[in-house]
Amino acid sequence: MYLRTTRNQVVNSMEQRKYYTPNIFEAPDEEIVCWCEGITKGQICDAIRAGATTLEQVHAMTGACRGTECAERSPRGKCCCQQVVAMLAQSALCRSRHGAAARH
Ligand code: FES
Repeated sequence: MYLRTTRNQVVNSMEQRKYYTPNIFEAPDEEIVCWCEGITKGQICDAIRAGATTLEQVHAMTGACRGTECAERSPRGKCCCQQVVAMLAQSALCRSRHGAAARH
């Protein structure tokens, strides 16, 4: 399974580049987390739901944390790895959101 989108699909949107939610847990699924590769929070959650438990596994499944232009591309001004690690640490949130959606 490879969940990555094409890089130019998302990163070219200047409107999207201006916005991010400071608390990643409050961000909507469609919000970009990895600005170098155009990976959304939802895609990272999908990888976690699919079994990723480490940063390396999320990297392999989505392409997140692979870029080298974080300071220039990300409105956070740094690599997305910190947000991905936080999501992994709270992986139950991704799994419970999926479960809640499946019940409705
Ligand atoms: S923002 Fe994810 S690797 Fe640069």
